[in-house]
Amino acid sequence: MNTSKHPSLHTIVLFLNLFLIVPLTTSIGVNYGTLGDNLPPPSDVAHFLKTRTTIDRIRIFDVNTDIIKAFADTNILVSVTVPNGDIPSLTDARNARRWVDTNIKPFYPATKIHYICVGTEVLHWGPQNLVDNLVPAMKVLHSALVKEGFDEIKISSPHSLGILLSSDPPSNASFRPGWDVGSLGPMLEFLKETKAGFMVNPYTYFGYSPANANFCLFKPNPGLFDKATGITYTNQFDQLMDAVHVSMKKLGYPDVEIVVAETGWPSGGDPANVHANPTNAAAYISGLMKKVSSGNGTPLMPGRKFETYIFALFNENLKGPSLDEKNFGLFRPDFSPVYNVGIMHASQVIFLWFDYIETFR
Ligand SMILES: *[C@@H]1O[C@H](CO)[C@@H](O)[C@H](O)[C@H]1NC(C)=O
Repeated sequence: MNTSKHPSLHTIVLFLNLFLIVPLTTSIGVNYGTLGDNLPPPSDVAHFLKTRTTIDRIRIFDVNTDIIKAFADTNILVSVTVPNGDIPSLTDARNARRWVDTNIKPFYPATKIHYICVGTEVLHWGPQNLVDNLVPAMKVLHSALVKEGFDEIKISSPHSLGILLSSDPPSNASFRPGWDVGSLGPMLEFLKETKAGFMVNPYTYFGYSPANANFCLFKPNPGLFDKATGITYTNQFDQLMDAVHVSMKKLGYPDVEIVVAETGWPSGGDPANVHANPTNAAAYISGLMKKVSSGNGTPLMPGRKFETYIFALFNENLKGPSLDEKNFGLFRPDFSPVYNVGIMHASQVIFLWFDYIETFR
């Protein structure tokens, strides 16, 4: 029995339609390059990334204080870079402490500094003086961080895939002789001890040919068969990542995390590079995001997750000389997306229909 004024009303059928806005959960990083004369101020960039995108980490190519400050209290992780030229001086403990005092201490932990990248593709570009000082500088800088109590900040150094002697087939990959035991072995030992990731910059864009376009773009294709493992690779990203893995394993470090420090595809390019277009860029980036958010890993690293930084946040008009280099951005300087890949918070709208049927007697 109830006290309804309408006891005669037998059944009330209530349809309640709930529209839930569910944010996408993809965690993805971007490289925030600044070689443009028309780019927005860092504070606007920080606000934009935080409020409008699913991007939860950035990497910058220097220790730009304006950017580091702008990302304070955003919860967005910021990885910074020691310029190549500063590497030799950081093998000196006092210089390393001073570097941390100047570039990290004033901003941390308000800004969540995540990685300090020591140099950019040092083995690839040299000179030998930098190569020789790279791992020692990483170690001394790490000691300086520990001394300050900043143990959570990791140290690594991004590599081009020029560190590989070959990547085809992945099972036969290895690091270049000389670089392997000279630099990469000691670096991997350091990364293992400090639980930091090995950073690589795999660009399938640079492995493109018209014949393997779909393989480079995560589109359906016959694949690449690796006889030694029986694995058929369906995309070049997996091929390159497994080639890195096999090379690390040969040096005895199969379990060090791999960080994709840079990867991307330009939306425009020089007339000869018709494959640099928005359709291909969208195909590559959405394939990449699907890949790294799936948690599936690669054929030789099943279930492994790769912290990933897309190159790049903005089109940068001062890069070059090729048009390709200027057009790697996800966004134009006015924040409009160059193509759509689901990186905006636009969200999925899910329609849930709750049908309530209550019966009063
Ligand atoms: C493996 O790599 C080495 C060095 O690049 C090369 O000489 C050899 O032919 C490769 N073997 C296979 C089976 O591809």
